[in-house]
Amino acid sequence: MVDPRALRSSTIVYRPIKPSDLEALEQIHGDLFPIRYESEFFLNVVNGRDIVSWGVVDCSRPEGQSDKLIGFVTARVVLAKESEIGDLLNYDPLRIDQTLIYILTLGVVEAYRNRGIASSLIREVIKYGSSIPTCQAVYLHVISYNDPAIYFYKKMAFKCVRRLQDFYYIRGRHYDSYLFVYYVNGGRSPCSPLDIVAAVASYMRSLFKSLAAKVWKNEDMKIASSSRSSRWSKCKETNCLLLATQNKRIVSPDQSVGCQCVV
Ligand SMILES: CC(C)(COP(=O)(O)OP(=O)(O)OC[C@H]1O[C@@H](n2cnc3c(N)ncnc32)[C@H](O)[C@@H]1OP(=O)(O)O)[C@@H](O)C(=O)NCCC(=O)NCCS
Repeated sequence: MVDPRALRSSTIVYRPIKPSDLEALEQIHGDLFPIRYESEFFLNVVNGRDIVSWGVVDCSRPEGQSDKLIGFVTARVVLAKESEIGDLLNYDPLRIDQTLIYILTLGVVEAYRNRGIASSLIREVIKYGSSIPTCQAVYLHVISYNDPAIYFYKKMAFKCVRRLQDFYYIRGRHYDSYLFVYYVNGGRSPCSPLDIVAAVASYMRSLFKSLAAKVWKNEDMKIASSSRSSRWSKCKETNCLLLATQNKRIVSPDQSVGCQCVV
């Protein structure tokens, strides 16, 4: 049990997970998750075999505890073409090397929660994914009743893109899961708001072009039939074209920020 008063003066350190973390890692997983993981999974984590991970310790804890894990995140790099979210990416079939980061487990022991530790861990994963040029997204599953985790991933700007029925089977019961995605390096859903805005912008551009052409034509006809000076007419045309450009700017792709595509 951790003394809450001691937490105020704690020194949180993020470091790689190492073989000596094996026991603590197994213990925290057992405490936090309803799913039992095989020994091989833990051995792979601590030895960095096909799994990337970050650990957290509180150096201000007494001797013997100061290097004991209080949080962790484990993840795996997977090929986009072999993943279940290939259809949610701006997938280029010619680029068979496109990858994703799949978060396997994330946990912080209870006494250390709500202090931004999991947020820091997830930011590390996102930074890692962004540093891999082929990486398109970071994604994960959350069991449908895990409200704190659902809240947490939404807060971290992950998009909830899918609900998978009966994804988990735990102690004789089925549970749904939510699929959360965070796009990196320009990887994005083919039906993302950005695409919709781009399509609307392109439509508006052609609409304004044809309107401008019509106005231009009318002005030419007016010039031919009126006795006004050509200089005044030109000025009016310029105004009209300027207005069209301004309208087009209203539909800028930047405005899609904050929207999400839920399948
Ligand atoms: C989800 C979890 C990793 C969050 O860890 P954490 O270190 O407390 O997260 P942070 O402090 O970075 O951020 C927590 C945010 O979620 C909110 N939150 C955390 N626990 C919460 C809870 N029980 N109920 C509601 N919101 C909660 C916090 O209020 C905070 O939001 P805020 O900054 O707006 O206040 C942690 O609760 C946990 O280990 N849960 C058990 C394991 C688990 O469910 N893992 C995720 C599934 S893979």
